[in-house]
Amino acid sequence: MTATTAAVIAARQVGKAYGPTTALDDVSLTLGPGEIVAVTGPSGCGKSTLLHCLSGILRPDRGEVWFQGRNLAGESERARSRLRRTAFGVLFQFGQVVADLTAQENVALPLQLGGARYREAAATARRWLDELGVGDLAGKRPGEMSGGQQQRVALARALVTGPAVLFADEPTGALDSLAGEQVLAALVRLARGQGTAVLLVTHDARVAAYADREITMRDGRVESDGLIAAGGVA
Ligand SMILES: Nc1ncnc2c1ncn2[C@@H]1O[C@H](COP(=O)(O)OP(=O)(O)O)[C@@H](O)[C@H]1O
Ligand SMILES: [Mg+2]
Repeated sequence: MTATTAAVIAARQVGKAYGPTTALDDVSLTLGPGEIVAVTGPSGCGKSTLLHCLSGILRPDRGEVWFQGRNLAGESERARSRLRRTAFGVLFQFGQVVADLTAQENVALPLQLGGARYREAAATARRWLDELGVGDLAGKRPGEMSGGQQQRVALARALVTGPAVLFADEPTGALDSLAGEQVLAALVRLARGQGTAVLLVTHDARVAAYADREITMRDGRVESDGLIAAGGVA
């Protein structure tokens, strides 16, 4: 992203502590529209806390988080939660798919919460499952699927509303390397296809190769921030 490109999301001097533990210390960064950025660094360096502050799950103690002209750090839990539902997608290490719903119902859910009718939501969900190669599992519940299949369902659910930003925290951390690569390749392809910016948190340096830019963190601070020379593998 160049200096003239508007940021889709920007953190300014964000700080967050848990009691005596400083998790984030003066973190500033921007994410451009459609940009795929990896956040890497050792366990405990503050990656998840950063993602939670940027996505409005946590309110930082200090600093600002700007999204579409609003400082989320100053907004209520209700307003932030609405934003997460409408403008953000989230994907965690364990998919958080709803165990009692089928794959198709899981993916249709965010559309229905946004007011879509059942039939329309179901048809769109089915297209996303097909796109991710798990269309034949549309009627199955998560308990009947492998971890990689569940994570693809979770990915479809995170992207189905066409969010401005996808926040992914170690999305392949619980998968074997083949399943992990399939999920990542699909994540990058589908996010690029609809212009969803991605903040991809990982402690796995190989995962960062899928991104346009890598931010490394250490002890709650940004250590480096720069374009990846190869421009990503996908
Ligand atoms: N809920 C919490 N309560 C207390 N300390 C926490 C909590 N979450 C994270 N921490 C601490 O904050 C620091 C940053 O954690 P985290 O953001 O989870 O790092 P990472 O995702 O890079 O592993 C660590 O020292 C961690 O132990
Ligand atoms: Mg973490």
